[in-house]
Amino acid sequence: RTHRIAVIPGDGIGQEVMPEALRTLHAAADRFGFALDLLEIPWASCDWYQAHGEMMPADWKAQLQGVDAILFGAVGWPATVPDHISLWGSLLKFRREFDQYINLRPARLFDGVPCPLANRRPGDIDMLIVRENTEGEYTKLGGIMFEGTEREIVIQESVFSRVGSERVLRYAFEQAMRRPRRHLTVATKSNGIAISMPWWDALADRIGAEYPQVTVDKQHIDILSARFVLQPQRFDVVVATNLFGDILSDLGPACTGTIGLAPSANLNPERRFPSLFEPVHGSAPDIFGRNIANPIAMVWSAALMLDVLGERAAHDAIVGAIEAVLRDGPRTPDLGGAASTTALGEAIAAAL
Ligand code: NAI
Ligand code: MG
Repeated sequence: RTHRIAVIPGDGIGQEVMPEALRTLHAAADRFGFALDLLEIPWASCDWYQAHGEMMPADWKAQLQGVDAILFGAVGWPATVPDHISLWGSLLKFRREFDQYINLRPARLFDGVPCPLANRRPGDIDMLIVRENTEGEYTKLGGIMFEGTEREIVIQESVFSRVGSERVLRYAFEQAMRRPRRHLTVATKSNGIAISMPWWDALADRIGAEYPQVTVDKQHIDILSARFVLQPQRFDVVVATNLFGDILSDLGPACTGTIGLAPSANLNPERRFPSLFEPVHGSAPDIFGRNIANPIAMVWSAALMLDVLGERAAHDAIVGAIEAVLRDGPRTPDLGGAASTTALGEAIAAAL
């Protein structure tokens, strides 16, 4: 079997961590007997923008025709291109035009990584955050009336479609079924947001009835956030609307030590369009060019990609190799060590 992957390093440390993800992918392909057909993409970067006046060529979709997945480094170089141009011109186009309605972010506390929370031990944090990625609170519906007068009013609408909410809830239940604890936390705020959130809760109940093996815990987003910090061991799979999920999916990884570990997947689960896999972090201009970025978030993102492409064993082996390297070293500076990006990448590939 052959997987055709579009490889987009993008900007800054995206260019430094991507080679380590490819090194791991090649090692996994050798060990597990699949082939890689890599399509290297120079656009979706600020360098491309400076040369061409746009982030991506007009025929970007045609160029990606037939790829099984997109592996993405990071985009953004604020010194030369404003962030709203670089992000809306690339990453956000992929998410919306490829209907990548699930944003999946695992957060784990690993052995060997100092935890910023008091009294936390490896194993205490092992959660999967499922964020709705295409609708909800993030819309351009609304407006400002009586602008500049004392009667000025601003209205910003949220949009929750039945289809959009059902599909993300169902996806979260399916993920919970795949994990040993079979526990799902549903983020809500039905005590304050009086129309959409009670509706969301009722939908969760209805879909939950199809998954009697999954234990469901509905929590208001305020106390849920507090418990992420105080009792992270309570959480297994967490599902949330776009805004709440956006916040939780930064808070969760933040509780596990370094942003350099956090992977993410932007999924179109039906595979009508390619899904996109990327580290949570950005291009990190402050450390670019020194070969000290932690490549683990990128490598783990590549492992998530293999899982979605049906290579579960390869995914598990890569995560095992990451665990071994975090435990035994070498470590990049964000983990308290002095090793290079390359050294860490080589160690992961060797452990594999
Ligand atoms: P950032 O994630 O690039 O960096 C934040 C801090 O974390 C920096 O101090 C950086 O050195 C550190 N850091 C990030 N990744 C690391 C790694 N792998 N190893 C060690 N340390 C790491 O966020 P920032 O500085 O706000 O944004 C920089 C640029 O990246 C901007 O243009 C921003 O728009 C873009 N960005 C792009 C994202 C994407 O492509 N998905 C996500 C977040 C930001
Ligand atoms: Mg965010």
